[in-house]
Amino acid sequence: MQEKRDVLVVANWKMNPRTLGEAKELFAAVKAGVRSCPPGVVVIAAPYPYLAQFAQKGTGKVSLGAQNVASEKLGALTGEVAVSMLASFGVSYVIVGHSERRARGESDLEIAKKVELVVKANMMAVLCVGERERDQSGKYFGVVEAQVRAALKGLPGSKLPSVVIAYEPVWAISTAPGFTRPATPEDAHEMILFIRKVLSDMYGRSTAGKVRILYGGSVDGKNIGELMERSGAEGFLVGGASLRPSDFITIVKTAYGA
Ligand code: PGA
Repeated sequence: MQEKRDVLVVANWKMNPRTLGEAKELFAAVKAGVRSCPPGVVVIAAPYPYLAQFAQKGTGKVSLGAQNVASEKLGALTGEVAVSMLASFGVSYVIVGHSERRARGESDLEIAKKVELVVKANMMAVLCVGERERDQSGKYFGVVEAQVRAALKGLPGSKLPSVVIAYEPVWAISTAPGFTRPATPEDAHEMILFIRKVLSDMYGRSTAGKVRILYGGSVDGKNIGELMERSGAEGFLVGGASLRPSDFITIVKTAYGA
C-alpha cells in the first residue's frame, strides 16, 4: 500500500546562479515565499559553497540538498565532497545519479555506492532515473527498471524509506541536448506506476509503498496544476524554473495546495 504524505519539491539549481550574492537573493526570496509550508516540503539543492553559507544563516522551512556526493567515504580524492561533510552542517538530501552526471560517465556502481553512503549518513537520497529517449516498442521501461535495480542493489528494505526516486526522462529536461517536449502527466504516470511495481518486486508492496516517487523535467508554474492532478507524482524535481522565484513559489504552492 502506498502511504499518504506531503508533497516534496526539490529545486535543482545545477551550476547556478553565478555569484554568492545572487544565490543569497534567490534563497531569501524562496525562503520567504514558502514560509507557509511546513518543513519537509521544499528542498533547495544548491552548489556546495552556497549550501554552507545558507546553513550558517538559517534556512527557515527550507531543507538543504546537495546535487552530488563522492562515492567513497573519505580520502585522497581531489575535488570530491564526502557525505560526512554534508551531514555535518545540516544537508539532509543528496541528489544521486542525475542524468547530467550519468552523461559525464557516472556508473551504476558509483550510483549504488552513493545511495548507500547517503542513507547510512541519515540523509535522504534523491535517486534520479530516466530514459534518454522513447521507442515505439517500450524498451525504455527496461532502461528505467535496470537503473532502479542497479542503484538499489544491496540496499536493505529497512533503508528504502530514506530513498526518494525522481523519474526524469532525459528528453523532457528543459536544457537537455535531446530536448523534444515536456512529458505529459500521462507519460509520467505510467512510469511512476511501473517504478512502483519494480520496487514491489524487489522489496514487497508494503516497503515499496514507503518510497516517494517524484517527476522532473520542464516542470513550471504553468504545467504544475495538471501534473499534480494527473501524474500521480508525490513531488517534483525542478531545474530551470527553480531559478525564477515566482515560478518556483507557484510550483510549491500549487503542489502543496497552500
Ligand atoms: P528542468 O530540469 O526542470 O530544467 O527540465 C530538471 C532537472 O534536470 O533536474
